[in-house]
Parts: sequence; structure tokens; C-alpha cells
Amino acid sequence: MHKKLFIPGPTEVRQDILDAQSTPLIGHRMKAFTELYTGIIKKLTDLLETKGFITVLTASGTALMEGAIRNCVSNDVLCCTYGAFSERWHKIAKQCDKNADAITLDWGKSVKPEMIEEKLKSKKYEAVTVVQNETSTGVRPPIEAIAEVMKKYPDVMFLVDTVSSLMGDKVEIDKLGIDVCLTSSQKAFALPPGLAVGIISEKALKKAETVKGRGHYLDFVGIKDYFDKKGQTPSTPAITLMYALDKQLDKIKAEGMDNRYKRHCDMARYVQDWAKKNFSLFAEPGYESVTVTCINNTKKISVADLNTELGKRGFAISNGYGKLKEETFRIAHMGDLTLDEIKELINNISEILKI
Ligand SMILES: Cc1ncc(COP(=O)(O)O)c(C=O)c1O
Repeated sequence: MHKKLFIPGPTEVRQDILDAQSTPLIGHRMKAFTELYTGIIKKLTDLLETKGFITVLTASGTALMEGAIRNCVSNDVLCCTYGAFSERWHKIAKQCDKNADAITLDWGKSVKPEMIEEKLKSKKYEAVTVVQNETSTGVRPPIEAIAEVMKKYPDVMFLVDTVSSLMGDKVEIDKLGIDVCLTSSQKAFALPPGLAVGIISEKALKKAETVKGRGHYLDFVGIKDYFDKKGQTPSTPAITLMYALDKQLDKIKAEGMDNRYKRHCDMARYVQDWAKKNFSLFAEPGYESVTVTCINNTKKISVADLNTELGKRGFAISNGYGKLKEETFRIAHMGDLTLDEIKELINNISEILKI
């Protein structure tokens, strides 16, 4: 039996989107691919209301975390860390041989604008990394207030990971002045894994031109140059996933971005109200994610047993991430899931736990 996915990626993919992948293949140097790909970029540009350069990479989101560092940092970067993925970005920056300082917070806490401002006042950084939705902890930092601080430092690149939020949570990329906004297909886009989407500002592209060691696959300048000349990707893309993306963008447009955001807020509120009544939330109050809720296992339930029982009923949720494995569990409410599906899941959990 298929288990409907309420895990924070990959998320549930609807049958018509899965079916789109079985469209017969075209060559990635054919005109038909140029039409498909430039159409996708246009649809993304319209939906995200951005003037940035958009690229769809055949890779997972981590590749663009590395790409953002490789393209926007020669030496000094500040990484805000408060969970597994924000820590990963710091690690990537160090592995790319950059001087990577960190603002290190306990998991569950959110970085605040004043913390970033204090660091920016004390040292000249080229970039700041912020994970807009920390999937491991269910924390959503105040990206709008952080953006206000970043605007005082226009030479500092604002690198934002929206892997588990873009298309589910409202991120006004241009208004916030984000220089590299990156995401993966298998989260709020509700697509299979395999594509990473990057929205890159003019400023970031200019900066990249000055940075050495950008490499090849993730070189933003080379990718843009190829797109401008050919309307294609420099290397062979996952064409079948592009079919799925193209169809999904039409469906997202038909739903309407505001409706999509509202649906996510409604689902988050429902799960969080239930979690607060029966357990407690891991996220610092006021900083709760709208796409994934991380719940303190205050009743000391066996999450593995719960998931086994849920599995028999056709649902899957997630245990805590890494060191939080036993202490928390996570329910994702992102992608194409509906409030009714969330209610059905919660009713089943309540029934199994007899709460
Ligand atoms: C916030 C966040 N950033 C980055 C990643 C890494 O993305 P990917 O697995 O697509 O490389 C994830 C994956 O779960 C994530 O949740």
C-alpha cells in the first residue's frame, strides 16, 4: 500500500505529475527542449515575481548551497546556524576553503536580525547565509526583518536557503533583496527529487565574475551565459523531471500563489494547535515554520511504533532529525497536501495514541 507522505521531503506527488514524466523524451539540444526550458523559466519568473536570473539545475538543493558559496564568496562569509541544514551550509563553506564564521545557536532557536547586524558591524563579510525554514527544527527565522538589516550592507550578498519553503511559504525574493535564493524540487513544489532551483540577483552575478574557483558545474556566470545564448542548460538535464515541473507550474498558477500560501498557513495552524494541546512545539515561540512542525515528544511515545501503525493505514510521518531523533517527531504540511488530508492524518494519530 502506498503511504501518503507527510514527511518533510520528498513530499507527496500527485499522479498526474508522476504521469507527466512518462512523456516521450526529446533531445536537450533540440528546439523542443529550448521551448520547454525557456517556458519553465518564464513561468517561474512570473510566479515568483522576480527579476533575478533563474536556473533549474539537475541536482539536489545542496549543490546550490555550495554554488552560492563558490560564486559569491572569495574569502569571508558569515553563516547563521540553528539546526542541521544551516550547520551544513557552514560546513560547506569551510569545505570550499572559505573563512566561514558562524552565529551558533541552539537547535530550536531562531537567528535574529540584531545578531546578524552585530557581526556585520564587527567585520567585513562578503556574504551571509540564512536558512529561511530550518527543516530539522521547524524554525522560520524572521527573514523580512533580517532583510532590513541586510539592506544596510548592500555589498554583502544575502544567501537564502528556501529548500523546504519556497512555493509553500511567502518569500518575496526581490523585495527582500535576496541575492541567491535556492530550493529543491522535492519539498513545497511537490515534485520528485532531482532538480534544484536557483534565483540569482544581478548583484550576485556581478560578484561571481570577481570570484575565482567557481568551478564548472555550479558556475553561475557560465550557466547564465549558456542560457542567454541557447536557452538551454550547459549539460544534460533531467528532462523527464522538467516535464513534471512544467505541468506543476501550470497547476500552481491555477491554484494561485496567495491561495497556496493560505492553504499552507491553514495546515500549519491546524497541526500546531493540535501539537500544542497534546505535546509542545520544538520551535522557539513566534518562529514556527508554515511547512513543517517539529513536535516535542513529551509523552515519550515510540515514534517508530506510531509510524508502523500509521503505515498500515496509509500514512507516513517523520521522526526527529539527527540528534533529535527520539526527542521529537515531525509532521510536514507542504506541497499539494490539503487541510482535509492533514485532518485525516491527525485524526488517525489521535486514534492510534488514544489522545
Ligand atoms: C532546509 C534545507 N536545506 C537544504 C537541504 C538539502 O537539500 P537536498 O536534500 O535537496 O540537497 C534540505 C533537505 O532536506 C533542507 O531541508
